[in-house]
Amino acid sequence: MYGLVNKAFEQFVKQRYGDDRWERIRKISQLDIEFFHNMRPYPDQISYQVVGAISKELQIPAEEVLRMVGRYWLQHTAAEGYGNLLSLEGTNFQDVLGKLNLMHTRIKMLYSQLQPPSFEVTDVTEEGLLLHYHSKRPGLAWFVVGLVEELGARFKTEVAVELVQQRELGADHDVFQIRYLKESPSHV
Ligand code: HEM
Repeated sequence: MYGLVNKAFEQFVKQRYGDDRWERIRKISQLDIEFFHNMRPYPDQISYQVVGAISKELQIPAEEVLRMVGRYWLQHTAAEGYGNLLSLEGTNFQDVLGKLNLMHTRIKMLYSQLQPPSFEVTDVTEEGLLLHYHSKRPGLAWFVVGLVEELGARFKTEVAVELVQQRELGADHDVFQIRYLKESPSHV
């Protein structure tokens, strides 16, 4: 995974828990890396080691770490450098969800070794929709939960995200049920 994403884990820990905590996590994960470069791809194993070490050091389940960093990543890393990309792709939550593939394809122009996830929106109603997530990488469903929650916040659309079909339990891919929480949603 590109350093851009790994760095989010580092910055998240440093900002919320301090530099010393990150140093301990670096030791636990046996990371032989001083710092992550945004534009450099790293073996996926490194990302999993980092999540495992954060979970151990902070005593937070790995799923929750992924979810929190998903939110953090969109709030800070992506928003700071790539906010335009997000708003250019659509004017509301549902629009942007439907254009995630296109957005990652654009990103591939910058990050040539990108192995992007792929998303599909189905079952759209007034109350919500289903989001299908495919990836070559296992175990990142809760990262998507955090990203989608934050995307909702960004477009002033409060959402509840529920994992209703799980690859980890043998399903072909992960599926999220997304429900709008406000009575008159501003999702469209
Ligand atoms: C402007 C905002 C965004 C940028 C710049 C961006 C960029 C990236 C990059 C560079 C990666 C690493 C992939 C690799 O190294 O092969 C990645 C992965 C990922 N992105 Fe995005 N992304 C953005 C927004 C989003 C949003 C809004 C979602 C979902 C709701 C999303 C879902 C994911 C997921 C789940 C991964 C993990 C990789 C995987 O599933 O295999 N991204 N993205």
